[in-house]
Amino acid sequence: MIAPGHDHPRVVVLDFGSQVSQLIARRLREVQVFSEMRPYTAWQEVLEDPLVAGIILSGGPSSVMDPGAPDVDPRLFTAGKPLLGICYGMQLMCHKLGGRLAPAHNREYGHAEIEIEREGLLFAGLPIRQPVWMSHGDHVEALPPGFEVQARTETIPFAAAADPSRNLYAVQFHPEVAHTAHGLAMIEAFARKVCRVEDRWTAAAFVEEAVREIRDQVGDQRVLCAVSGGVDSTVMATLVDRAIGHRLHAVYVDNGVMRAGESDQVEADLNEFLHDPLQRVDAREVFLSRLAGVSDPETKRKIIGGTFIEVFKEATRDQGPFGFLAQGTLYPDRIESVSVHGPSASIKSHHNVGGLPAELGFDLVEPLRDLFKDEVRRVGRELGIPAHLLKRHPFPGPGLAVRILGEVTPERVALLQAADRIFIDELKTSGQYDAIWQAGAVFLPVHSVGVMGDERTYENAIALRAVTSLDGMTADWARIPTEILARISNRIINEVRGVNRVVYDISSKPPSTIEWE
Ligand code: XMP
Repeated sequence: MIAPGHDHPRVVVLDFGSQVSQLIARRLREVQVFSEMRPYTAWQEVLEDPLVAGIILSGGPSSVMDPGAPDVDPRLFTAGKPLLGICYGMQLMCHKLGGRLAPAHNREYGHAEIEIEREGLLFAGLPIRQPVWMSHGDHVEALPPGFEVQARTETIPFAAAADPSRNLYAVQFHPEVAHTAHGLAMIEAFARKVCRVEDRWTAAAFVEEAVREIRDQVGDQRVLCAVSGGVDSTVMATLVDRAIGHRLHAVYVDNGVMRAGESDQVEADLNEFLHDPLQRVDAREVFLSRLAGVSDPETKRKIIGGTFIEVFKEATRDQGPFGFLAQGTLYPDRIESVSVHGPSASIKSHHNVGGLPAELGFDLVEPLRDLFKDEVRRVGRELGIPAHLLKRHPFPGPGLAVRILGEVTPERVALLQAADRIFIDELKTSGQYDAIWQAGAVFLPVHSVGVMGDERTYENAIALRAVTSLDGMTADWARIPTEILARISNRIINEVRGVNRVVYDISSKPPSTIEWE
């Protein structure tokens, strides 16, 4: 496996299970510091890695005093590596170094204001009073020997503390979330001033290095990859193509549940970038025939996943030999797919990783494996991929099959494609598309009464789903102006036969999901 950037100094986030641990790594990268997240159980390896310039200990849901709470050896705190403990990380640090914790009577959750008492390296140049985001039960009641208080709030005396002589820093609040107004500056100060990381992670540097590493890994062999037309696989294929040109063979499988016109579009787009033309496989029939009569969402997913592997194998059988399979796996895909003890992993069985590689028995080339989505877009821009491709909304692997509630039939696919096209076109022409994380129409197999002309109708409903989100993990329904919704509804009902009702989904995630199935 390759992971570009592997000889760069970095700041590692040790994950103690907070929902927002991943954000810490992301913030570090935002300020161009190379970072990765590891489960806290890997603390020793991380501590001994000379490339690790510093460690951030994340928050977590446990109490340090709980039996079985995530624990590490005190050596982590005395080895001399710069450390920043956040929330649980602060409590653990203080507990291990001889401080005292006060157990929670109440959880403190939400906005708070800190008052800085000592600037130190972390808060230099920041306002004395500033808003932060708190989410904790326990807090530190007495600091360990050698520590000084750096900030307080009305309710807790040690909102931030440090022992600068040992490069140990701790904050009770969460600098990684956007509600902490100056959190990014604190994280940057920790990386640059305390850990003294000087390297800058940039897209141009990434591309140069990734190209070199792909060439080293692949040697003179050929590489196979599947593309979906999505941002990740488009950037991945373009990057691998940049490294090995004609030795990349890219395959696109039309599974019959893509959006209207999408397959032609993907083929045309990819062929702009690739040295070798895309192999387009028309497998609509086999997918749709296997989906016939199936209503259960998980069964649909399994059928599509299984059929994809079969079709892909069959179609590429005589195109080889190939030494490697390239995949557009991203960092969050890996985190979500790995279950570590006490992790922040919210595990989604259905997401991209898995299936293909093990089945095909290839070694993997995963040049994007350490990147977040916004970084992939930056790399894509660097590679010259046009904005309309990089801004494309995410689209699920099982496609419209999980947006057709109940059985998938060719007629329903055609109907949904038509409605979806109107929805997306209108979002684009009205300038809404780019502000929305993801949008699509959903086919509801419920018949309701309507009236068209002089006749009563008894036809299907379409739900429109559009959400704003940073990462797809949480989402809010998009506040599309009502006049735009009105126009979309009119057009769908007038132009798509078999639809007499359009509704707009106003549920956020959680508790609802983005996809209806
Ligand atoms: P949910 O519906 O879980 O979706 O809120 C979160 C994100 O994941 C996408 N999604 C999928 N992607 N295969 C995929 O490749 C799937 O089976 C699948 N289900 C949901 C969804 O479109 C959203 O971006």
